[in-house]
Amino acid sequence: MDKLLISGGRSLEGSLRASGAKNSALPILASSILLKDKMTIRNIPHLNDITTMIELLSSMGAEMTVDENMDLEINSSNLENPLARYELVKTMRASILVLGPLLSRYHEAEVALPGGCAIGSRPVNLHIDCMRQLGAEIDIVDGYIKAKAKDGLKGGNINFSNVTVTGTENAIMAGVLAKGTTTISNAAKEPEVVDLVACLRKMGAKIFGEGTDRIEINGVNALEPCDYSVMADRIEIGTYLTAVTMTKGNVSIKCSLPSVLETILDKLKIAGANIQIDEEGINLEMDKIPNPVNISTAPFPLFPTDMQAQFIALNSISKGKSKVIENVFENRFMHVQELIRMGGNIRLEGNTAYIEGNTKGLIAAPVMATDLRASASLVLAGLVAKGQTKVDRIYHIDRGYERIEEKLNLLGANIERVSE
Ligand code: EPZ
Repeated sequence: MDKLLISGGRSLEGSLRASGAKNSALPILASSILLKDKMTIRNIPHLNDITTMIELLSSMGAEMTVDENMDLEINSSNLENPLARYELVKTMRASILVLGPLLSRYHEAEVALPGGCAIGSRPVNLHIDCMRQLGAEIDIVDGYIKAKAKDGLKGGNINFSNVTVTGTENAIMAGVLAKGTTTISNAAKEPEVVDLVACLRKMGAKIFGEGTDRIEINGVNALEPCDYSVMADRIEIGTYLTAVTMTKGNVSIKCSLPSVLETILDKLKIAGANIQIDEEGINLEMDKIPNPVNISTAPFPLFPTDMQAQFIALNSISKGKSKVIENVFENRFMHVQELIRMGGNIRLEGNTAYIEGNTKGLIAAPVMATDLRASASLVLAGLVAKGQTKVDRIYHIDRGYERIEEKLNLLGANIERVSE
C-alpha cells in the first residue's frame, strides 16, 4: 500500500496548471450513455475514480479509446447491458450517475446501491424518488436498484427536499430524453452541474436555468455527438492555494475560472493571503502566520464542504481561535483526530470544530488517510510540520488529486511516495 513521506518546513513557490474537475468529468462520462454515437471528452484528470467510471461504462458495453493526453473517445452505440455491478459501484459512489442516463436511453437500469463512506451514510433516496417522479418503477432487490420505464420516462416536476449535486445531475440526464418537460426545484447550483449542462447542450439537449435553483428540461428524441473539454478542478486549485498559504510561499495557478472560487479566495484573503487575478489565472502570495478563518459549509455558492478539511489544517497553525461548521455531511471530521496527533488543538462538538491555532506549528507524525479531502488536509499539515510525516492509505488521495506529490514537489515540497 502506497504511503507519502513528507518533509515539512519548506515554502512552496512556482506555477501550476490545474487538472480537469473530477466532479465534472464523472457526470459527463456518464452522459455518454445518452448518445447512440461517439463523443470526445477532453481535459479528463488521471484519477482512480475516473478509471472506475471508465471500467463501469466498458462493463456495460461502451467502447472507448484514450490518448496520451487522457482525451477520451467514447462510443455507447453498442452499449447493451444497463447493469452497474456492485464490485465497481462499491469503489466509487458516483457510479449512481449512470442511473438517470440508462433509464433515459434504455428505459431500464440495474444499479447497485452505493454503500456509505467515511464521511456519511450517503443515501440515494432523492435519486430514486426523482426517477419515480419521471415515471420509473423502482424496486430495491438484493442491494440493487432495479428500475424500469417500459414506455420511457415522462417529464415531471422534481422538488428536491435538500440540495443534492449528483441527484440534480441524474435528474437532468433523465430529463433530456424524457417525453415532455421536466422541472427541477431546489436544484444544485455547483459549477460542475453547469459544466454538465454545457456539455449536454452541445449534444442538442434543451436545458434552461442551470446555476440557479430551478432548472427546466424539454425532452428531445435523440442527442448528437460532441467534443467537450471538462472545466478545471476548483477544489484541486483551492487545495493548492491553501497549501501555499500555509507554507508562506507564492504561486501562480493557470485557470480560467476565478469566479467559481470566490468563497475560497475570500477566506484565503481573511487568512492574510495577497491574491491577484489576471487573464492567466490566480496569483497568491503569503508571508506571515495565517489569521484564523471561521467556516460554515453549504451548497454552492457558499463555502464548499470539499474544502473544509483543508481549512481546519490551515486554522491549526493560525494565530488565534476559529470555528468550522460542517453542514453538509454528518461525519466529515475524520481528519481531526489525525491533526490532533500532529499537535493540532481542536475540539469537536457535534458538527462544529473549535480550533486554537498553534503558532509553534505542527509536529510530524505517522497519520492515516480516511477519505479524499481528509487525506489532502493531512498532506497540507505535513508540509508545515517539523520533521517527516508519513501519510498512510493514500489511495484515498489518488481518487481526487492527480499526481499530488509531483505537483507539490514542483513547487519545492519534499514528498516521496513509497510502497510498503
Ligand atoms: C457531490 O457528492 C460530490 N461528488 C462530493 O464530492 C461533494 O462533497 C458533494 O457533492 C457536496 O458538494 C461528486 O460530485 C461525484 P450530495 P453527492 O448528494 O452528490 C444528502 C469529493 O470530495 N443526500 O450533494 O453525493 C447527502 O447524504 C466528493 O470530491 C441524501 O440524503 O453529495 C449529503 O448529506 C465527496 N439523499 C447531502 O445530501 C440523497 O439521495 C448532500 O449530498 C442524496 C444526498
